Amino acid sequence: MTAFGPSESTHRREWGIGVIGCGRFARFVLESLRPLPGLRLAALASRSTDNLEAAARVWAEGGQTATPCLYRDADALLADPAVQVVLVMTPPHLHYALALAVISAGRHLFLEKPGGLAPEPLAEVAELAESRGVAATMDFVMRYNPLIRLLRKAVLLGTMGPLERVALENEAHGDLPPEHWLWDAAKSGGLLVEHGVHFFDLVNWLAGPGRAVAAAALPHRAGSTRAPARVLAVAVHGGGAGERVDGVMATYYHAFTRPSGLARTALRLTFQRGFVDLHGWIPERLELDGTLTAAEAEVFASCPGAEPIAWDGGRVRVRITLPDRQELYRAAIRAAFIALLQKAGDPCHRPAVTLADGVNALRLARAATALAAIPSPAPAG
Ligand SMILES: NC(=O)c1ccc[n+]([C@@H]2O[C@H](COP(=O)([O-])OP(=O)(O)OC[C@H]3O[C@@H](n4cnc5c(N)ncnc54)[C@H](OP(=O)(O)O)[C@@H]3O)[C@@H](O)[C@H]2O)c1
Repeated sequence: MTAFGPSESTHRREWGIGVIGCGRFARFVLESLRPLPGLRLAALASRSTDNLEAAARVWAEGGQTATPCLYRDADALLADPAVQVVLVMTPPHLHYALALAVISAGRHLFLEKPGGLAPEPLAEVAELAESRGVAATMDFVMRYNPLIRLLRKAVLLGTMGPLERVALENEAHGDLPPEHWLWDAAKSGGLLVEHGVHFFDLVNWLAGPGRAVAAAALPHRAGSTRAPARVLAVAVHGGGAGERVDGVMATYYHAFTRPSGLARTALRLTFQRGFVDLHGWIPERLELDGTLTAAEAEVFASCPGAEPIAWDGGRVRVRITLPDRQELYRAAIRAAFIALLQKAGDPCHRPAVTLADGVNALRLARAATALAAIPSPAPAG
């Protein structure tokens, strides 16, 4: 395999990207990235010709004329000197081995979540990236959502007093067929790992590292899935010496059981002096109700999409609605990818998401999975 030294990765005007695992989400990521200047889709690797051709088509539909090389396996893609940045987009059980291979080949790594099935192998990947001087990040899209960033600012500024409670109700569609890899815990790690890491990471970011204290799991009512389709985890975040919150009680409910068109996600955050409700798994609406000063409320009210502040005595209500959920999603993926390229060009740059964040989210996910007595696969590696 050809290895790229760190010096070669700085200040490039064009990046050759390669994608391993050209399924549903890889196509969405390519659609998200194709407007970025300075990117060339150099190579795709997938076992199926249909998947390879569909991914190449998505890129071409953006007006790109250069056609990518198509490979049947990851090793062939990693031997292609035109590839400098690799996106690992396979199911989770393959993330660890592929991430190690990408870094060992000296390529920068855009790793899909959850980044593997257990924290220790991902920590090993993070150490290798550090020692090889390659950039690596995880695709935790929520950290790049404007409403989440606003909330993070409010937490850091103490705008509504300390954060006390987070409650997630994530009602997702239950239409994946029983043979899908999500329902095979040996491939997905189960719902708390495959999907839960997004939200564990988010609350880790807002409230400090969490520890799982209770969990439960139930099958889909129809009993058609191999892994539980309804899971609930309870965690306590922060509260350690020197941390900015006193301790936050968080509950995480994920149900992949809703009929088509009925999915909804609500995240409520309770602060000492207010409530914030976020709507949508890619948050697209924020509602705040609290006792804030005019200056504090202005931080929210000055956001694009904010309606005029509603005052009721000392009580403030703010509502912010962002248009176009899909574009919000694509923009978050672009922002995560740009952060990776910045790190690749400048080793001192710190992206908003590191592999260490992935390790912490996976640690919480695995601990909750164990408490729910969901059988966990043996860690890879
Ligand atoms: N960050 C986010 O918001 C987000 C959202 C959705 C999904 N994801 C993540 O993206 C990754 C891919 O999810 P997806 O929904 O795109 O899955 P998918 O549609 O099943 O695509 C994964 C592709 O990987 C390839 N693959 C290689 N080896 C495989 C194997 N042993 N078993 C199954 N597939 C294999 C398959 O293509 P070939 O058959 O052609 O090899 C498959 O189409 C997962 O890690 C998922 O958690 C992230």
